[in-house]
Amino acid sequence: MCGIAGMAASANVSQKLLRSIAALEYRGYDSCGMAVQRNSTIDIRKNVGTVETVNSLERFTDMKGLVGIAHTRWATHGGVTQANAHPHADNESRLAVVHNGIISNYKELREKLSREGAVFRSETDSEVIAHLVAQKIARNGRDVEEGFVEAIDELEGTFALAVISVDAPGRILCVKRESPLIIGLGDDANYVGSDFSAFFEYTRRAIIMEDGEYALITPESYAVKSLLTRERVDKEVTEIEWDAEKARRGGYPHFMLKEIYDQPITVQAALQIPREDIQALAGMIHESRQCYLGGVGTTYYIASMGQYFFSRLGGRYLPVVSTDEFAHIAEVGPEDGFCAISQSGETYDTLSALRHAKSGGARTAGIVNVMGSTLVRSVDVPILQGAGPEKCVISTKTALSQAVVLLLASMELGLLAGRLSEAEVEALREEVATLSDLVLDTLNERSGYFHTAAHAHQHMKNWLYLGRGIYYPAALECALKMKEVTYLHAEGMSAGFLKHGTISLIDENMYTIVLMPTPEEAELHALTRSSAEEVRARGGFVLGYRFEGDEVVEGLFSEEIVLPRVSPLLAPFLHLVSGQLLAYFLAVALKRDVDRPRALAKSVTVA
Ligand code: AGP
Repeated sequence: MCGIAGMAASANVSQKLLRSIAALEYRGYDSCGMAVQRNSTIDIRKNVGTVETVNSLERFTDMKGLVGIAHTRWATHGGVTQANAHPHADNESRLAVVHNGIISNYKELREKLSREGAVFRSETDSEVIAHLVAQKIARNGRDVEEGFVEAIDELEGTFALAVISVDAPGRILCVKRESPLIIGLGDDANYVGSDFSAFFEYTRRAIIMEDGEYALITPESYAVKSLLTRERVDKEVTEIEWDAEKARRGGYPHFMLKEIYDQPITVQAALQIPREDIQALAGMIHESRQCYLGGVGTTYYIASMGQYFFSRLGGRYLPVVSTDEFAHIAEVGPEDGFCAISQSGETYDTLSALRHAKSGGARTAGIVNVMGSTLVRSVDVPILQGAGPEKCVISTKTALSQAVVLLLASMELGLLAGRLSEAEVEALREEVATLSDLVLDTLNERSGYFHTAAHAHQHMKNWLYLGRGIYYPAALECALKMKEVTYLHAEGMSAGFLKHGTISLIDENMYTIVLMPTPEEAELHALTRSSAEEVRARGGFVLGYRFEGDEVVEGLFSEEIVLPRVSPLLAPFLHLVSGQLLAYFLAVALKRDVDRPRALAKSVTVA
């Protein structure tokens, strides 16, 4: 949600901290700020806007000091204002705090602290932390560590936070509860961040903090301790394997386009996931009485595509539940399984669903992109996608690679269930290996058509995506891409559902995109054709996406875009890519903030 960065160094920190929050901006970007401690003062600068805008207003790089914290915000409590931006300070600005998460008892704390003299300058829940820590430090004879731990004890809710104080010069104190926080270990500096992006330009060595721990960081040392006992905890140092170069834009105008073009490679990376890992997931599904698939937003739609793969190849119907609703509907027992899908591995709703599944005694698995994330560390069967960092807020390459993982797992399930032979699985894996070139062909040879269509139809404000079978969840995902990045109204729907009500919306103000199956899927193909005809019969404009070699649809659409000839197994993947391309080009035509669309955040770590 929000991004936290901190640094204790032997040289001035502001320049590096600025780069850290720029790298974290995908987590939130409505405002940002920095606090740097020097001698007995803390300089705090913050404002509304992107990191670049705020830096030009506030000149972060003029700040001088060897220890600092910084923040990029995605507003939850309190509007987008300078006062609500982080860092927050106590009355005398003896300390500054940056926070990610929600302090659920902030109203009680605010009232109590106000009665005791705290002067609140913002509407945020986070500011109570500054006043509470300051009060505890004062009551503990300026013992910053003791005051900090006592204050944390009183906080309810979820948080990752970092504090600097003139009473603890050169040090950062930090702690987490259900929000991610990672320490980076450098040669002449140590770091803290919401995730690896905060410091992976500076070091690849990291320590992952757990709930119940806090840490003290100086330029030369770090200590992770238990909140309960105050004793030091031995921590393993993790080597980050992500390549910083991969996280750069590499000449593309936007990360979204770069990441769409990364997909031929991420498909190959998914195919290189150790087969034993995929088999472990299939085994868990096979052995479970009922195995749920869960995700939210894009990952819910990808899980829904997986549902079709498991049914078709593995012969198992797996319930798919959006993780924000999971605890309200899913009865989970010890014989059940739960497989969560998440790019970040930190999504609050998905982690809550995981807790619900665990509390019922279920076995758990996770398909996750971010190494070291909470989800990866919490499940019995972790599968790392290896898609590399995804910087654009809109998921593209990670979603496609999750769908590949689910397809591979459904094959293994088919093998375990005796529905597929080893030779058949091998042949299917070879087929999946061709996906990389098909995606490349779509990108290199067809993206011009999407560009043209986007420019021709940029005036249209309402879009309807239709698909049947597995093309139905693909249609839902294409519509989500459109909504997120263009701010246009887009709906996805099963084509068969249309005539049960929504068809009344069809007029010259609604454009329909039909995701055609391959001609080999004769029944689905015929049913989808008739839905397209229903729309055209009511004067609706239909843009058809069909595959090469499909002659049956000639003359059916108002306009069409032809995708490479492909097998039924791989066809839905190309529809995902087409949804990404149209959304991207429309967003550019409409001059949207492509990599950071309004109101969104990459990792939604609040309920
Ligand atoms: C995708 O484009 C969205 N930004 C969003 O729906 C996202 O997929 C969802 O918030 C889940 O995130 P996760 O994959 O990090 O769990």
